Amino acid sequence: MKEALTTAYEARETLIQEQELARSLEEGALDVTLPGRPREAGGLHPSTRTLRQIQAIWAEMGFQVFRSRDVEDDYTNFTALNMPPHHPARDMWDTFYTTQENVILRTHTSPGQIRAMHALGAKGTRPIRVILPGMCYRYEQITARSEIQFHQVEGLAVGRTITMTDLKGTIADFARRMYGERARVRFRASHFPFTEPSMEVDVECFICGGEGCRVCKYSGWVEIMGCGMVHPVVLENGGYDPTQWSGFAFGMGPERITMLKHGINDIRYFWSGDLRFLEQF
Ligand code: PHE
Repeated sequence: MKEALTTAYEARETLIQEQELARSLEEGALDVTLPGRPREAGGLHPSTRTLRQIQAIWAEMGFQVFRSRDVEDDYTNFTALNMPPHHPARDMWDTFYTTQENVILRTHTSPGQIRAMHALGAKGTRPIRVILPGMCYRYEQITARSEIQFHQVEGLAVGRTITMTDLKGTIADFARRMYGERARVRFRASHFPFTEPSMEVDVECFICGGEGCRVCKYSGWVEIMGCGMVHPVVLENGGYDPTQWSGFAFGMGPERITMLKHGINDIRYFWSGDLRFLEQF
């Protein structure tokens, strides 16, 4: 039985290989020179690409990733960041509340500063150098320029001798790694309740090189982040003695960076799941 099957199999194999293939080739039924059918392959979301690039740069500079939570409590999102209940600055962040008291969606990644200090600071005895990437949520009208969800990448450094020159030098270094060796930055005075002093950072427009164009609204500069020296109240709420410890913090938006880089003029493309958009990356 086995022999019979083997013989039949071999005979068939020979037939296919030598005769049928040869014949079909002759007849042109099988053109082996035709290109194969391409397989559809997925790709990384444009935000994921930018996030990974940002993470890689900060990793080179010694910043670890710390993952904080998306679902926060009111205390950590606001009060611990120097915004007690009814503080007017809370209006800067339109909040998604839940039916459960005190349970909210984080409106920015800054509450992660408090969580990182408690998780890594060993009761205010150890220095910290982390970035905190993640999704943030705001109760807003969805338009071409504003979405109800978007990423932020927070940064936090805590140490015994950290000064504003460290902040400025570190940010300038990041900008060079992200936007090229010749990228220039400028710092503008600003205000956030959880940093003092506070600043906003502009980078010289990487589209026109500072000449003025539509992307930078003919100013030559593009805003890339908010930052500042960690407020003493915030250090204290993270378990540190603010007379002995200091730190800097920053927060940037990868969607904004991606939009500027690729000339995307509508933020709604990001979470629409439209393949015509996603397949371009
Ligand atoms: N959390 C701020 C925002 O959402 C950004 C920021 C982070 C500013 C850290 C200063 C320091 O706008």
